[in-house]
Amino acid sequence: MTRVALVTGGSRGIGAAIAKRLKNDGYTVAASYAGNDEAAAAFTAETGIKTYKWNVANYDSCVAGIAQVEADLGPVEVLVNNAGITRDAPFHKMTREQWSEVMDTNLSGVFNMTHPLWNGMRERKFGRVITISSINGQKGQFAQANYSAAKAGDIGFTKALAQEGARAGITVNVICPGYIATDMVMAVPEKVRDSIVASIPVGRLGEPEEIARCVAFLASDDAGFVTGSTITANGGQYIT
Ligand code: CAA
Repeated sequence: MTRVALVTGGSRGIGAAIAKRLKNDGYTVAASYAGNDEAAAAFTAETGIKTYKWNVANYDSCVAGIAQVEADLGPVEVLVNNAGITRDAPFHKMTREQWSEVMDTNLSGVFNMTHPLWNGMRERKFGRVITISSINGQKGQFAQANYSAAKAGDIGFTKALAQEGARAGITVNVICPGYIATDMVMAVPEKVRDSIVASIPVGRLGEPEEIARCVAFLASDDAGFVTGSTITANGGQYIT
């Protein structure tokens, strides 16, 4: 029986690589996205992976979106909380709105997606919750008080929920990618990006597929004893 995997922010960047990898591994995959219809349509045309539009920052939208995915494909057994945004600004320039947008998407979005799926995973005695945090949730980052706080919150969320899921066969893990070659990182000013690359011991940005491989492992039956863990994949830029 093929398992159903749902990847948020799954039509672009790291999420798209995860969705493709899980499909290749035999999962039935759904990808959610928030806004870019064109990219989602192109992704579906290329991969055959169904895409669904809703904003993970809105709880009711998540409940409705998940219900639609489950009606189409069956119960979601693997959730990959990947959707995330940046609103970078030095703190003295950061607005309340920039703070809230990032917290609502990158932290509350993880609650909003995991909560509606949790009871079903408990009843079926199987589940995989994999959240994509960030190196910047571990080390902090200039101009990212909002993002670093949210991504650090994702790590705490994972450590707490892993303890609750353990007896129900649900593993809960988090991955902290470093700087990966995606639109998000390419939006960083070139000079800043060059200095970031210079600080990565392996000497390059990561590839989205390198994060997808970590997800594939955590989703697999082989990883049943791995829960509450943080996988750090950052080319040695920050060693915890
Ligand atoms: N450490 C210390 N000082 C820094 C700094 C740093 N890392 N980066 C910038 N500064 C300094 C600048 O030198 C400048 O100082 P002066 O005023 O003395 O010249 C000041 O801070 C910045 O002032 P600006 O008015 O130029 O700032 P700005 O309002 O234009 O903001 C910025 C610019 C948003 C900080 C921009 O430089 C930027 O985007 N930086 C990159 C931040 C970053 O790395 N974000 C990660 C995005 S990728 C991601 O998030 C994915 C992931 O998970 C890894």
